[in-house]
Amino acid sequence: MNIDLSGVLYAQLKEAEGKYKAALAKNDIDGVKKFAQICANTEKQLAQKVPDQMKAHLDKAKRWEEAARTAGTAPPKKAMVERGEKSGQTEEDFSSFGESLIQTSTVTWKDIGGLAETKNLIMETVVIAGLNKPESIKPDKGILLFGPPGTGKTLLAAAAAGSLKATFFNVKTSSVMSKYFGESTKLITALYESARKHAPSIVFIDELDSITMSRDGDQGEASRKVLATLLAELDGFQDKKSDKLILTLSATNTPWSLDDAVLSRFPKRIYIPLPDKKACQDIIRIQTKGLDISNVDMEKIGDLCVSNHYSGRDLQNICRDAMKSMTRRVNKEIFDNIENMAELPFEELQKKTLKAGPLSMEDFTQSIARVKSPLTPDDLKRHEVWSKQFGAT
Ligand SMILES: Nc1ncnc2c1ncn2[C@@H]1O[C@H](COP(=O)(O)OP(=O)(O)OP(=O)(O)O)[C@@H](O)[C@H]1O
Ligand SMILES: [Mg+2]
Repeated sequence: MNIDLSGVLYAQLKEAEGKYKAALAKNDIDGVKKFAQICANTEKQLAQKVPDQMKAHLDKAKRWEEAARTAGTAPPKKAMVERGEKSGQTEEDFSSFGESLIQTSTVTWKDIGGLAETKNLIMETVVIAGLNKPESIKPDKGILLFGPPGTGKTLLAAAAAGSLKATFFNVKTSSVMSKYFGESTKLITALYESARKHAPSIVFIDELDSITMSRDGDQGEASRKVLATLLAELDGFQDKKSDKLILTLSATNTPWSLDDAVLSRFPKRIYIPLPDKKACQDIIRIQTKGLDISNVDMEKIGDLCVSNHYSGRDLQNICRDAMKSMTRRVNKEIFDNIENMAELPFEELQKKTLKAGPLSMEDFTQSIARVKSPLTPDDLKRHEVWSKQFGAT
């Protein structure tokens, strides 16, 4: 019998890479040699176990061997250090970093309840960039979305990716903030180079605050450099003459932690508030798509959601919870018999179907009683005050 060992090998590789990086950070040359060699050996084994990626694994094995051989002699830049989510790459691979962030999404504008103005603004920006226009009219380069957690900021970016004909780069702040030897600044440069190459492009930087907040000690120095590079890219002096769209879309739920230098690069700062009554109703309809909610008093539910300060994320949880209650109610034969069902082989379970029935008002009121908004009135006030003072559309 063939046993697939690739999962174990990938885990082994990850562990060895972690130890390699730790050794590198401590300048422990023996450790660097040892763990680079382990990585090389593991890559070779992976080349055997995963034939369709044999060449890639053998290439990486070669580079790890090189890293083991030159440990302590090569300048740190040549060493194999973390680059975003990919590891085991060498200097020449920077150009592929930008490409690796390109994403597609199946979310569209229709999946978003409320926020009509914000959706329009993002669409407008992309359309203006595409149209022929007088030289002095330029599309916006930076849009900052801010507001309490769970209000749909990341979802908006996903919908932009799913609906607009632009290349979408999804930047996880943590992956850019790899802290070895100032690599992060090169990642930002590589990212915007790719964005220019694939324009029109949208670069989405989620949780922007985490680049600007950690400003103490060594990492502080690294984040300052990253920030400076990012700001230079946002100024976009390389493509001042070009009218290609490179829109940087950013999101944060702590806008007050951003400094003036960052804010000034985002001329459009859009408050994404908690949903109002109509938006709450829309979000519930979206989250329960395909199910019968005609027995639910949406007027009353809408009012309850607003007075409880629910975010879109809370509403998603409420709908999931309500759907669970409905499922239990209409599939009694399954749930009253759950212990026996749990013993059935998976293939047997796959032959049975879970029924869906109408959602009742009670399903919702019970879920609403269970779900509490994590936000305090002070949190909301802080967003509103900041929005009045610094928001700009
Ligand atoms: N306006 C909305 N319409 C439909 N669903 C929404 C809306 N807002 C939030 N949701 C639901 O809540 C989930 C969380 O939203 P999202 O991740 O976009 O919040 P966020 O504003 O980015 O929060 P955070 O600040 O914590 O990152 C979404 O996946 C979606 O299911
Ligand atoms: Mg988010």
